[in-house]
Amino acid sequence: SAAEKGGYDHFMLKEIHEQPKAISDTLTGRISEDGTKVVFDELNFPEGFAKDIDRIHILACGTSWHAGMVGKYAIEKLTRIPVDCEIASEYRYRDPIVSKNTLLIAITQSGETADTLAALRQAKEQGTRVLAITNVVGSSAAREADDVIFTWAGPEISVASTKAYTTQLTALYLFAGWLAQERGAAGAAEVPAMLTALRDMPAHAETVLETAPAIQAFAKDWSSREHAFFIGRGLDYEVSLEGSLKLKEISYMHAEAYPAGELKHGTLALIVEDIPVIALVTQDDLYEKTISNIQEVKARDAFVLALAWSGDTEIGKTVDQVIHIPKVSAFLAPILAVIPLQLLAYYASVARGNDVDNPRNLAKSVTVE
Ligand code: G6P
Repeated sequence: SAAEKGGYDHFMLKEIHEQPKAISDTLTGRISEDGTKVVFDELNFPEGFAKDIDRIHILACGTSWHAGMVGKYAIEKLTRIPVDCEIASEYRYRDPIVSKNTLLIAITQSGETADTLAALRQAKEQGTRVLAITNVVGSSAAREADDVIFTWAGPEISVASTKAYTTQLTALYLFAGWLAQERGAAGAAEVPAMLTALRDMPAHAETVLETAPAIQAFAKDWSSREHAFFIGRGLDYEVSLEGSLKLKEISYMHAEAYPAGELKHGTLALIVEDIPVIALVTQDDLYEKTISNIQEVKARDAFVLALAWSGDTEIGKTVDQVIHIPKVSAFLAPILAVIPLQLLAYYASVARGNDVDNPRNLAKSVTVE
């Protein structure tokens, strides 16, 4: 009903707008009073385990897998522990290398995805310690894992996941920071500043939501196309994966996410006049490189919509249209950068007359393998 949707036309739009609060709720109680330390009272690692972990495997499906890709980056950066992030249905069948010092992290919004649960159970049988990051208290993942970090996104109804992703990212940044502090890793020095920035994130997310009218106009003009590309480098590529999945799921447009530097090794053959390319440009260290990749697609007359920091006055010289988001560290950019991409998928789906909340062939939670 309209009341359940809180005045929004669809659950997805409501859930997109709930992200500032969902992020804030996921942070609550997990930062020390002085703002410098991550607090995870819910974690019950055995004595010494946090220091002994020498390998981390992240497993998930769909949007949760994309969150895991950012998590890999965050954990490696802050702790220097090698992390693999894999699709749960693939992981199970490839005889992964694990030891008693491996930590397995299963990310699942619902806590009921069969592929993820099967991988979690297999890991437990092998004696690997399992941490679940889930949104549902009492779910199978929450009950069966050794440790649980809850995302406090609240119920997510729309099949296309939005606030679950941004709260999974929030939980993963916190966990990366916690682990760095527990281990006394060099990266621990960066954690207090990260926590300050995370606390500002809900307010920044509100600002990003103000891009909705511009995104809606873009979606109206471009959603009659059959193909779209999302490009970016580093963390911008991980976010591109999620933007592309969102668009496919609910607009049924064919979309591909590509590391911008890899285009020239094949995909550039598909870039022709007026192909919409969404370019993410938040990774400061890769700025010049990304611009030159964008120039490669502009030279083929693609239409480029860039997602860039506010204050970036350079980017407009290269691309056709720019969506600006508030400047935060490149490390935390994914939490904000995904929001315009969620809005793009939403408005494209609406423009194409689709059933936004219940896309064809898809289920909110897939409980068969
Ligand atoms: C389904 C949903 C996706 C979701 C995936 C994993 O395919 O349609 O939106 O990302 O399952 O769900 P989970 O609950 O495990 O995060």
